[in-house]
Amino acid sequence: MEKVIKSSDRVKDHGEVFTPKRIVNLMLDQPEIQSKINDLQATFFEPSAGEGAFLVELLKRKLKVAKNKSVSAKLFNTKSLLALSTLYGIELLEDNVEMLVMNMITTFNIEYSNIIQEKFGGKVNQHVFDSAKVIIQANMVQGNTLEKITSDGSPIIFSEWKPVSGNKVQRTEYTFESIINQSGPTGTVQGATEEMDLFADTDFFADLQKKEPRMKKYALCGWTSIYKQEIV
Ligand SMILES: C[S@@+](CC[C@H](N)C(=O)[O-])C[C@H]1O[C@@H](n2cnc3c(N)ncnc32)[C@H](O)[C@@H]1O
Repeated sequence: MEKVIKSSDRVKDHGEVFTPKRIVNLMLDQPEIQSKINDLQATFFEPSAGEGAFLVELLKRKLKVAKNKSVSAKLFNTKSLLALSTLYGIELLEDNVEMLVMNMITTFNIEYSNIIQEKFGGKVNQHVFDSAKVIIQANMVQGNTLEKITSDGSPIIFSEWKPVSGNKVQRTEYTFESIINQSGPTGTVQGATEEMDLFADTDFFADLQKKEPRMKKYALCGWTSIYKQEIV
């Protein structure tokens, strides 16, 4: 039996009811969704991700597409990471996010290893595992989707993983707010200054630091070098 609720309090407080596999499959089988899954660059965003009922299944399906579009283990290394990089989620509760991240990492590692060995007769690449972990940790965020902030009150930041010719990727950070407002990659936190009470009995700069997102500029790199997280 699949467990769809953890406690009645959590259902009352957070609307936490997990979607059974059968329903997830039924929804993802819809032709409109299927065509997006077949497009390796099409992104999916789960605003209330739970433990990843949808994201984990999407990952499995996208990896199958990556497999069918690859002619070598080397190409599959890149395409599997591209497929993974298009999946994003936000979840409010800490224990759920931990499970979400773990489920995504485990699923990627198992599916990637099986495909590399069975279809390509190749060896798994540790840099792919390491890069996948970095992508998952960046794309699965603990926060409040409605307020667009993380659990410590700072703006939610997502990374865009843009394929660049020659099997490279450009990682760019955006605040969730700027994505919603379509206001570009600078991602300056609209509203952060208004929200601050300058007369409150707190250290102004400590407050500012907490609220300002630290946007990093990442170097253009190969997909399997994402794990290095090189800054320019
Ligand atoms: C109905 S459950 C669905 C979980 C998952 N999508 C699934 O289908 O199994 C809703 C989830 O949203 C989370 N949640 C509730 N309010 C949220 C908010 N403001 N921001 C992000 N997540 C939230 C809950 O903790 C819960 O895990």
